Amino acid sequence: STRTATVALNTQRIVSDISPLIFGGFAEHMGRCIYEGIYDPKSPLADERGFRPDVMKALKDLNYRIMRYPGGNFVSGYRWTDGIGPKADRPRRRALAWRSIETNQFGPHEFMEFAEELKTEPMWAVNLGTGSIQDAADLVEYMNLPTGTHFSDLRAKNGHKDPYGVKYWCLGNEMDGPWQIGHLDAVAYADKAVEAAKLMRWMDPTIKTIACGSSNTAMPTFPEWDRVVLERTYDHIDYFSMHYYVGNPNMNSKEAVDTDSYLASSVHFDEHAETVAAAIRLAKAHTRSRKDVGLCWDEWNVWYREVGGDGNWEEAPHILEEVYTLEDALVVAQWLSTFLRKADIVRIACIAQIVNVIAPIMTRADGLFLQTIYHPLMMFSQHAAGNSLDVLVRAPTHETRKFGEVSLLDVTASHDPATGKGAAFLVNRSQTEALEVTVKWEDVAPDALTQAWQMTGRDPMATNSFEQPEAVTIHTINPPALNAGTATLTLPPLSFTVLTSQHT
Ligand code: AHR
Repeated sequence: STRTATVALNTQRIVSDISPLIFGGFAEHMGRCIYEGIYDPKSPLADERGFRPDVMKALKDLNYRIMRYPGGNFVSGYRWTDGIGPKADRPRRRALAWRSIETNQFGPHEFMEFAEELKTEPMWAVNLGTGSIQDAADLVEYMNLPTGTHFSDLRAKNGHKDPYGVKYWCLGNEMDGPWQIGHLDAVAYADKAVEAAKLMRWMDPTIKTIACGSSNTAMPTFPEWDRVVLERTYDHIDYFSMHYYVGNPNMNSKEAVDTDSYLASSVHFDEHAETVAAAIRLAKAHTRSRKDVGLCWDEWNVWYREVGGDGNWEEAPHILEEVYTLEDALVVAQWLSTFLRKADIVRIACIAQIVNVIAPIMTRADGLFLQTIYHPLMMFSQHAAGNSLDVLVRAPTHETRKFGEVSLLDVTASHDPATGKGAAFLVNRSQTEALEVTVKWEDVAPDALTQAWQMTGRDPMATNSFEQPEAVTIHTINPPALNAGTATLTLPPLSFTVLTSQHT
């Protein structure tokens, strides 16, 4: 059946500017993300640097503006000095987080080359697990100082005379998790993070620092961890991180499959962002600070399977190689909607991860396929720009077990006053009902609706594979006709639709 809905857009009714850094990725030394993912010298497709043009092209189309590296749990046992100098001399080590072997053939210089090629801002995590505050400061010295000191001269000797100027620095990773190598309680972590930030800034006062928030809402320490860490670090940080993964069922819960609730996930994403933003506000008041701290959602994605035991001290083990479904793609679309709806607070976000490990791209030596979740990510990162609009939506609702009554329609929109380009992103969450949606531009009608795309299917569990790489993809559709500032389009059940516009 088909039901009706209306959406009102107004280019003057603005949530906030959109930080381009919400379109970020995360590359960890984990499984086949780095090795056999972005760095695959044994592949017949690899270039002389070990990068594969097919992987690079798929990554470039995602238009990532920031890339977090090198972990993740990996970083809490990582010695960055292992990854520099002649490759033949670099040590092989046990990577304790993932029970694998780290060859160190890919390190700081290789990552910077990769980031430069992608034209993406690097975001480095320092090791606050086994690492010292001195190691963290040494890394800033190595990456960012002009030559003339021990580590900056070493960088020049290793082939890069100019400072890299890495701006974004994560003060450890998920230090609230008992699984973390060198896990600390909130007070001990906050104190170490402050001392690390002080030393790192003495090296380079222009850097931006990010403190660890809770790894997920299921942590017994959530949100107390966040309150304590924020109060103690507030004056030393620019961003506060949050991590969250979902699934149907959620990996952290013993719940049964519940598709209607899963397809309403952005209700929870919105709420989670607001909770952490409230903790940030509280810390600002508590510390009498005048500055703001942004939210850095630097790990987010759909995740189902257990990691444990898969890696058995092998190089590049196949771990966490999720294959995503249509319903996962609709949830990823809603996650990106949350980033737009909360654009005033979410200032950085990184999908975890970028290749093979819980990722939008799956590779093997002779090729790759794009996962279902690739498509919404590409749509948002290519078309959402300028301001996020405060959208008014009137749509039918349905009852979900987890979130009560939820709108069938999730909509966000952007408008860039600099270019006149607009975009609307619409998810029909219903598994059975089509929605006929009338979109109205309230202040000024666009000159034209320029393009439209739609991703849909009958089976929420449909996936892509090497054999059927485009079983679930996004197709261009004809943009609807524009009539006196309104347009009507039909959204099939289980669908994601994008509509772009041009304004004078
Ligand atoms: O992204 C996979 C892992 O998830 C990261 O290493 C860790 O930070 C999180 O628990």
